Amino acid sequence: MKTKKVTKAVFPVAGLGTRFLPATKSIPKEIMTLVDRPLIQYAIDEARAAGIKEFIFVTSRGKSALEDYFDNAPELESELRKKGKTDLLDVLKDTNMESGAIAYMRQTRPLGLGHAVWCARRLIGDEPFAVLLPDDVIAADKACLQQMVEAYEQTGGCMVAAMEVPPAKASSYGVLDIEEDMGSIVKAKGMVEKPKAEEAPSNLAVIGRYILTPKVLTNLNRMKQGAGGEIQLTDAIAEEVGGEGGVFGYRFRGMRYDCGSKAGFLQATVAFGLSRPDLNEEFSVYLNEIVAQQKAAQ
Ligand code: G1P
Repeated sequence: MKTKKVTKAVFPVAGLGTRFLPATKSIPKEIMTLVDRPLIQYAIDEARAAGIKEFIFVTSRGKSALEDYFDNAPELESELRKKGKTDLLDVLKDTNMESGAIAYMRQTRPLGLGHAVWCARRLIGDEPFAVLLPDDVIAADKACLQQMVEAYEQTGGCMVAAMEVPPAKASSYGVLDIEEDMGSIVKAKGMVEKPKAEEAPSNLAVIGRYILTPKVLTNLNRMKQGAGGEIQLTDAIAEEVGGEGGVFGYRFRGMRYDCGSKAGFLQATVAFGLSRPDLNEEFSVYLNEIVAQQKAAQ
């Protein structure tokens, strides 16, 4: 299918991060680090791997640390250069953005995820775009969004990352109502945001990666309130079911960590710590010791 290339991505980063207070009193949640990289860096790396060239951040008050993070740091860089620390200069490269590649848009009122994406409408214009929720960190051999871009080239329409969750957990997610299950790609006949457990149409949950048509932005113009009184992205996507392109779920290959929760953040820290060649040995010895101690104490 002939689809337009996806080159723009929206990163909704306006949330208060109250689940991580007091840490998030003075630092944005997205700057919290897994090992030594902030959450937002994982999302940016994934978007880059998928061919994204323009990065649109929807921010709010108190998020200026994010802007500094993606700016050049001339003093730090010249100091490292003077000391010959080329390895550290290399590490910093991932944080540099070409001038004009990154834009910040403020969401002045917390009206929901759909509203946050709508705030970026003028920067998106009339083309398909990606949305990445940095709370969802996905470890994968091939970047999750890259997998989705490839699947989207077959289907067109709107595509959301999807994952089976235990039925009792479905009410924490957007949930897909399945029309046709083709394996990794699923055609949806509906989508519900945070359904009651007994009303969930399936246990296939939406994870924070989306490829959307600009029509979704038009749907958001109506500012319809959904679950929790918020303007929900899920609802605006669901309106495209049966529309021109349709809505698809994509079962990605990879491990998703819910870094919006403390337990998920800790799990990701352990997993990413273990996956680092420079830390693996020391860290796994330590973890084994802790487990042994816990067992002995039981
Ligand atoms: C958001 C979306 C929801 C999705 C989830 C994935 O919810 O509204 O549809 O399933 O992200 O992480 P939130 O977790 O922000 O409440």
